[in-house]
Amino acid sequence: MCGIVGYIGEKQAQPILLSCLCRLEYRGYDSSGIAVLGSDIEVYKDAVRVRVLEKASPPLIGAIGIGHTRWATHGEPSLVNAHPHCDCTGKIAVVHNGIINNFQKLRQKLTSEGHNFISETDTEVIPHLIEKYYEGDLEKAVETALREVEGSYAIIVLMAGEPKLVAARKDSPLIIGVGDRENFIASDVPAILDYTSRVIYLEDDDIGVVTTDNIKVRRHGVEIKRKEHKILWSVEDAQKAGYEHFMLKEIHEQPKVIRDTIGVYVSMTEPVADLALQGDTGLEDMLILACGTSYHAALLGKYIMEELIKIPVRAELASEFNYWGRTSARSRTIVITQSGETADVLKAIKRLREEGRRVIAITNVVGSTASRITDQVVYTRAGPEISVAATKSFIAQLMALYWLALPYSKIDIRRLDSLIMGLRQLPGKVQQVLDNEAVISECAKQLSRHQDVFFISRGINFPVALEGALKLKEISYIHAEGYGAGELKHGPFSLLGSDTPVVAIVAQDNTYEAMLTNIREVKARRSPVIAVVEEGDEAVGELVDSVILVPQVDAIFSPVVNTVVMQLLAYHAAKQRGCPVDFPRNLAKSVTVE
Ligand code: M6R
Repeated sequence: MCGIVGYIGEKQAQPILLSCLCRLEYRGYDSSGIAVLGSDIEVYKDAVRVRVLEKASPPLIGAIGIGHTRWATHGEPSLVNAHPHCDCTGKIAVVHNGIINNFQKLRQKLTSEGHNFISETDTEVIPHLIEKYYEGDLEKAVETALREVEGSYAIIVLMAGEPKLVAARKDSPLIIGVGDRENFIASDVPAILDYTSRVIYLEDDDIGVVTTDNIKVRRHGVEIKRKEHKILWSVEDAQKAGYEHFMLKEIHEQPKVIRDTIGVYVSMTEPVADLALQGDTGLEDMLILACGTSYHAALLGKYIMEELIKIPVRAELASEFNYWGRTSARSRTIVITQSGETADVLKAIKRLREEGRRVIAITNVVGSTASRITDQVVYTRAGPEISVAATKSFIAQLMALYWLALPYSKIDIRRLDSLIMGLRQLPGKVQQVLDNEAVISECAKQLSRHQDVFFISRGINFPVALEGALKLKEISYIHAEGYGAGELKHGPFSLLGSDTPVVAIVAQDNTYEAMLTNIREVKARRSPVIAVVEEGDEAVGELVDSVILVPQVDAIFSPVVNTVVMQLLAYHAAKQRGCPVDFPRNLAKSVTVE
């Protein structure tokens, strides 16, 4: 989604803005632009990547500026729709992340008052509103303008003759980076990490006024203090470290991520979050909400919690729950969101909190909106995930779910001990999968030649089949579907044949025999089958075309090793097809619109 940056200091703003924008590329975008204030505001923008903009743009002289990467929502990617957007006089420039719901009404009114619009964007109403209300006090004009705006925004405003940046947010993240005789504003921490690790998180309705050596935060006209935070990860954590793609680096980081994530959950007697399940709490059920890959973690959470805690658990898409779902006063809700900024998830949290429900967030981003508006937060320790495709954050989410459930488990102590030991062995097991990358890559090559692929499994690995399909379609553009293996005969059989390979994930659990039957059915329809099976299993190999072996683990942990296979299959298929692995078309890392 859109990324925004602002710089004010003693250095030339243009190169700094462009380098910050490069760090935001992972969010996904189609256009880029900057505005720099010298004697006047100069804007340079186009529907191009930041590096192209950098080469094409003339030197813009000035030590204050704003920049933007746009992910089109209102109007196609084009020069005129790219940000920054200006008012009629060209003296006010704005970059915006979010969506203005009532922009059409505002635009009509402003047009009738003589304002001239040139783009199709919702954003353009903001500089015109500020122009309308400006009477010598920029903060006040921004505050008044935003009172008319319905929707979500993170904005930075630059005005000729005003040596400051004014920033504001509502339902869209925004941070201020604190420097030494220079300050920054950005939608996301990686943007500014080259320059500072000191960060202030703005809250909804905050207005930040930033000069070279001063930061003021106002809320409803009153000045307030916001705490400064130190970012503990470095810019190196957000770099490729010799890997060809971020995605590959992030896949290979997973043994460490597992260690780091469970390493902070020190004791089995101290739950990582208070699920309030012990004793007679009247708890009836658990609801887990998420989107995309995190939704697949939520589905796995259902299996994990039901197996270990023995209570009914629902996993739902936050985007659907927002229009339909119900909870009871005694249900507990967990939301899972890597970024902590997914609009659908935030909407669900707000609704649940309004209904008086207690919400626990599992998130990877310290200080993210989800971490601030929930009752309790369980942080995953995946480190910055740059590739649009979620990999290590998913595995870290699973670790958090296991560790959330284990202290409340209703299994016998011997099994509990063996699970804890199994969990601690997982980094080594995942490493074994990574060491088998050459075999997985060969299978990926086979998949890369096809247009349609099915992923099938049963039981706790059913969500892994969904995740395998999502990962493949997301980055390789191959049409892929994840199915419960028993469901193929209820429709998709009509699509099977020698041109439609099937990836079958076979676990050593109560689904094993049924999976073998399903594989035989698929083979009878001539589909090539790649099976993911545990070491030591010889039966499956005789039925299928290719086998990918994974190390033996307790069935409840099999999704971890199997998912790593799915990630590598998708990665190598996408690479084979020459796709832009880390930044797939039309997608954004952080989905901040509904
Ligand atoms: O930040 P979140 O976990 O809330 O993001 C949810 C989805 O947008 C995300 O998992 C998406 O599906 C991934 N890019 C898929 O790889």
